[in-house]
Amino acid sequence: MGTNFAGLQPGQFDQEALSQAFAALSLRCVECAALYPALEAQPRYRCDCGGVLDVEAIFQHPWSQEMSLQEGYNALASAEDDFMPQAGAAWRQLFDERAARPPIWSTGDGSLLLDYSGVWRYRELILPLPPSMIVSRPEGNTSLYPVGLENCGDGREGHRRIGQFAGVERLYLKHEGENPTGSFKDRGMTAGVSMAKASGARAVACASTGNTSASLASYAAQVGLPCFVFLPAGNVAAGKLAQTLAYGATVISIDGDFDDAMRLVEQACNELGVYLLNSLNPYRIEGQKAIGLELLQQLDWQAPDWLVLPAGNLGNTSAIGKAFLGAYRLGLIGHLPRIAAIQAAGANPFYRSYTNAFASRAPVQAQTIATAIKIGDPVSFTRARHVIEQTNGIVEEVSDEEILAAKAVIDRAGIGCEPASAATLAGIRKLAQRGIIKRDERVTGILTGTLLKDSATGIPRQPQHAPVAANSNAVRKLLQGLV
Ligand code: F0G
Repeated sequence: MGTNFAGLQPGQFDQEALSQAFAALSLRCVECAALYPALEAQPRYRCDCGGVLDVEAIFQHPWSQEMSLQEGYNALASAEDDFMPQAGAAWRQLFDERAARPPIWSTGDGSLLLDYSGVWRYRELILPLPPSMIVSRPEGNTSLYPVGLENCGDGREGHRRIGQFAGVERLYLKHEGENPTGSFKDRGMTAGVSMAKASGARAVACASTGNTSASLASYAAQVGLPCFVFLPAGNVAAGKLAQTLAYGATVISIDGDFDDAMRLVEQACNELGVYLLNSLNPYRIEGQKAIGLELLQQLDWQAPDWLVLPAGNLGNTSAIGKAFLGAYRLGLIGHLPRIAAIQAAGANPFYRSYTNAFASRAPVQAQTIATAIKIGDPVSFTRARHVIEQTNGIVEEVSDEEILAAKAVIDRAGIGCEPASAATLAGIRKLAQRGIIKRDERVTGILTGTLLKDSATGIPRQPQHAPVAANSNAVRKLLQGLV
């Protein structure tokens, strides 16, 4: 049986400590605003009205265990209702001190390891889990590549080509494919699997286009929980499937699409008491907020003008938006970035609704080469709509051709990403061409997954030649004219 990094055996957790820690949390329906307790005997993923739920928290400010965050701010300076810029400096200092400490694995000191995780470094703003309950690889600490025409350093001409393609001067790409299992999903999964374990789950499950399943399989394996993943048959990149199987998950192959798999896994989890770990689970969203927080910290808390990301099930749009809105309220940043969610044109229900001022919503039959975002009925639709509205955001669509062209540019720059991630760059280029993103604005984009899992889509195939004889004359002959 696995141990978490603090050395506790799963199951030894103190339920009383968990209840106390979660007393300040509740779950609010994003449709009808009904409130539910954060912990119930049966995990709850939806409101009675069918709406999805959002975690609502009173943050415990680190300078006092006793004070609520609001009281802490009041102690610092008189704060207006919800906007508390005076406290920002204290938060920034705390997170910067944690980021400055080197990771020391050998000491087994849980707090140092938590500080090193790019999720739990921000733990007061993520979830109030007692450290011993946290299941972490650790995750995060992903690169932020400056690739714009102006902000790309000398000697990195290859990277600057990305800025050239996008047509913007100050562009940063944050590569979430550098997470332990190769996608941003690990950020949500460390929070979600910690919650599963802490609430005594006996098995976990998700539906997936491949990255969520690989991530869940890895974290479930770490704590020894059985893991079931519902995958749309024939629509998952080979590397993602191999990874999921290697980590020991049981694959339930559905003769249908992701939306069918999603519907079926939710039903199965409710019927069988298996813990559901799609982003329908509100605690996963809390972990994924750390993408936004880490990005802001890497920019020395100078908020960008834009954050651009691919949009499928819309969990990530919801999470990063929530992080920015929270960071602005807490005074961590001085202005709100605008969020641009980019959909594949063949899987664009959110885009269609946006062009209709969100007046109506209809699922689509999804079709795109970017299988990770081949989703026709996104679960986090309403959460993401709120984010677009509150950040003065925008939704755009890009064709498969545009995705592949952008992927080729990212790949040839030596960075690489999976097809869905390239929707980010395709979207930035399109929005810059349309004059919506201004050439001199500071733009950040998320690359959501690694190149390595999908070795079939958008990879150039060199003309095949017969293997060369193993002597230098034959090699010389082949290379003549090429070099
Ligand atoms: N990019 C990649 C690489 C993804 O794997 C996903 C989603 C997205 C973007 C879209 O993020 O759903 O939060 O809007 N993948 C899910 C999965 C659906 O099962 O791995 P989203």
